[in-house]
Amino acid sequence: MTNTNHTVALITGANKGIGYETARALGARGITVLVGARDPEAGQRAAEELKHDGIDARAVQLDVTDADSVARAADWIGTEFGRLDILVNNAAVTGGAAGGMTAATASLDVLREVFETNVFGLVAVTNALLPLLREAPAARIVNVSSEVGSLALTTDPAGPMWGMTSIPYGTSKTAVNMITTKYAKELHDTAIKVNAANPGYTATDLNGRTGFRTPVQGAEPSVYLATLPADGPTGILWGYRWGATDGVEYGQLPW
Ligand SMILES: NC(=O)c1ccc[n+]([C@@H]2O[C@H](COP(=O)([O-])OP(=O)(O)OC[C@H]3O[C@@H](n4cnc5c(N)ncnc54)[C@H](OP(=O)(O)O)[C@@H]3O)[C@@H](O)[C@H]2O)c1
Repeated sequence: MTNTNHTVALITGANKGIGYETARALGARGITVLVGARDPEAGQRAAEELKHDGIDARAVQLDVTDADSVARAADWIGTEFGRLDILVNNAAVTGGAAGGMTAATASLDVLREVFETNVFGLVAVTNALLPLLREAPAARIVNVSSEVGSLALTTDPAGPMWGMTSIPYGTSKTAVNMITTKYAKELHDTAIKVNAANPGYTATDLNGRTGFRTPVQGAEPSVYLATLPADGPTGILWGYRWGATDGVEYGQLPW
């Protein structure tokens, strides 16, 4: 077993985008970062880049939709560190042409594909790692969600989500939000905090780099929630607030 005195964080889908910058920002705080990636070579490349910049980074092969991969990653973390302090469930997909899939036109295959990664994968990874999170003194779980999953925001006719009628991605994030509240309630009498992060519209491969925030900015909410103090919140959605009418552009969002 190595590095038992260091805080250890696993970030899924950390080979690029917001996950990679989350790993970088946590690593810059002296945290050992485990770079989860479904493609081992991409994970290795990302970990090497981070190590080159002085960060204690290790690649771990992790496809959140593959039960064997999830179990292997959990076994390895258990053997290597004996606990996990921070889990950032960051990996997600949109389902490709999901932008055009309204409730009336959505393909069930795409819905299943998106939920497999964004929802079922998140639960599979969390439950595989929960025994190791319970071994940490005060673990933090961050589920990377989105404001497009907020029922309150999507039903506001004056808000920017009103025109979004595509269902696969948004509904998967609504499920992530609800699942976050369920874990938070189940774990409320422990030191583990479970929250959902909204990176805001960020320029990554997820959206053809059309977002208006940088991946460094998009990682901020995840980093904040991953490093909450003991008196920090649990069971909230936190991050950038697109179209906030009260002038507050960063903070707690409605579910
Ligand atoms: N970008 C935005 O505007 C925005 C806004 C709100 C929320 N978010 C959320 O932020 C998170 C990060 O997204 P991003 O914008 O950084 O997108 P991204 O650049 O496309 O990164 C997504 C990451 O997830 C990984 N991934 C996909 N399926 C996986 C699987 N089955 N197992 C393991 N990893 C898998 C990808 O791996 P590969 O490289 O192998 O594909 C990649 O590393 C997501 O949860 C997303 O929903 C993004």
